[in-house]
Parts: sequence; C-alpha cells; structure tokens
Amino acid sequence: MTRTVYVNGEYLPETEAKVSIFDRGFLMADGVYEVTSVLGGKLIDFEGHSKRLERSLSELQIRKPMENEALLEIHRELVARNGIEDGLIYMQITRGAPGDRDFAFPSDETEPTVVLFTQSKPGLADSPAAKTGIKVISIPDIRWGRRDIKTVQLLYPSMGKMMAKAAGADDAWMVEEGAVTEGTSNNAYIVKGSTIITRQLGKEILHGITRAAVLRFAREAQMKVEERAFTIEEAQAADEAFVTSASTFVMPVVEIDGASVGQGTPGPVATRLREIYLEESRKAGL
Ligand code: PDD
Repeated sequence: MTRTVYVNGEYLPETEAKVSIFDRGFLMADGVYEVTSVLGGKLIDFEGHSKRLERSLSELQIRKPMENEALLEIHRELVARNGIEDGLIYMQITRGAPGDRDFAFPSDETEPTVVLFTQSKPGLADSPAAKTGIKVISIPDIRWGRRDIKTVQLLYPSMGKMMAKAAGADDAWMVEEGAVTEGTSNNAYIVKGSTIITRQLGKEILHGITRAAVLRFAREAQMKVEERAFTIEEAQAADEAFVTSASTFVMPVVEIDGASVGQGTPGPVATRLREIYLEESRKAGL
C-alpha cells in the first residue's frame, strides 16, 4: 500500500509529495520536528508534543502555521488513511522556501513548510530489545548549545548511532564536561537503590515528553527522583540504567562502554516504569 503523507495542506501518495529545493529545512536545517507514537490507533501524549512544538517554533521565531486542533486533525487523518495500529507520526515544520538561498531569515510572507508522515511499526510496544536491554557507548557531545529546541539538525546524533553500531552497541550516550547529557535520540537515566537519577532540564538536553510522563508516574508511585548530572563511571556502577523516548518508551540499558550494569539484564525499576508508562499512556491516548 502506498503511504499517504501530508504536505502543505494536501494529502498525497508519498511518491507525489514534493518540497522546494530552496526549502530552508533542506538548505540550512532550519526547521523543527516532533515524533508522536501511536498505540492501538491512539496518539500518545499529543498535548505534550504540540506544546513542545510551539516552544521550538517560538524560540526560532518560525511562524506557527496552524492551531493545535488542526494539527491533531492531520495526525488523526493520517492514522486513519494509513490504517496505523502501532507506529509513529513524524511532523516537521520549516521556515519555508523563500525562492533563493540567504542566511537572513525570509520575510513573513514566506509560508512555513509543513510535512507529516506515518511509520507503521506493528508491535511497537512489544519490542524484543525491551526484554534484553540495549548496549550503549559514550561519545563526546559536540552538538550546538540549544539542544532544548527540537531541530532537524540530526547529523551528529546520526553519526553517534553509527559509532555505536561500529562498536557492536545499540546506541550512544553523549558526554560533556564529564557528565552524561542524553542519548542520541533519548533521555538517559540511572537507578541507585530505589532512586531514579536523570539530568536536570536546561539547554543541554531535549526536554523529553516521555521523560516528563515517566518522572510523573515514578513520583506518583512513591519512587524517589533526583534530577542531576551523572558520570559514565557512576552509571556503570549503578543498579540499573535506561532511556526514554516516544519511539522506545522506557528501554533498559544493560551495558555501558563494555561494562555490565547491575546484573546485565533489565532491572525491576525500568521494567516497572515501562509497564506503568505503557498502561497509563494507552489509557490517555487520543
Ligand atoms: N527523539 N533527546 C533527544 C536528543 C531526542 O532526539 C529525543 C527524541 C528525546 C526524547 O524525547 P521524547 O520523549 O519527547 O521522544 C531526547 C525522537 C524520538 C526522534 O528523533 O525520533
């Protein structure tokens, strides 16, 4: 089946969807994005993603092209048209295509470009990796200084993923000034005793929507949460480690730079948080 995608007001077969070569997303990575998961045909935490999108756009002074209600409608329409049961919706908004290349932002008449597409992932919540856990390596964090804005500048995270693969691992945790910032496309956590530790919010990391939900559920379940920086050595010596994102939910990490974490298998805290997150998110899905 040909996938139906959304481009600037139109639903089109993916093979017919087009964006200008002058689009600033293409020329300058001048755009922002969101990835929302779909479980059982329902959108998970759409409100969180639309709020973060609004913030990313406003930090970069990109005009918000439509209201959240209209964006929700497009998400729902794409889920329906593509018969998505489990999967992801990718939404990208760029500063548009002014018709030439220029470092200065174009005038307000340039319409932002809006692109959305679905990725079908049957059984997304039952991924085998969640049962075994993943291995990560550490790499220096050499990204720009506004990682709190969800821009499409993903070259270094993409290179990080390849460095991990080359080292026989699944992903990379990035380290700056001796402390872990986050994973290539997820937030990073360790567990010591019954305390969950994850880096505090700031410009150094993306403010994960899954992170916010998981920390809320952890606190509701009377688990202790510490938002602070931690080192790779501290993580290797921790009882558990895990990552969170819209595409992996809560994913246990069982090895860091070749050293097993805890027993080298998914621990009880990550396992429990994953269960709670999936259960609560499914209930609240739109
Ligand atoms: N990535 N940190 C980074 C650098 C990310 O790219 C992501 C998400 C997260 C987790 O954020 P959230 O919980 O809101 O998904 C943290 C998405 C999934 C992606 O790029 O595909």
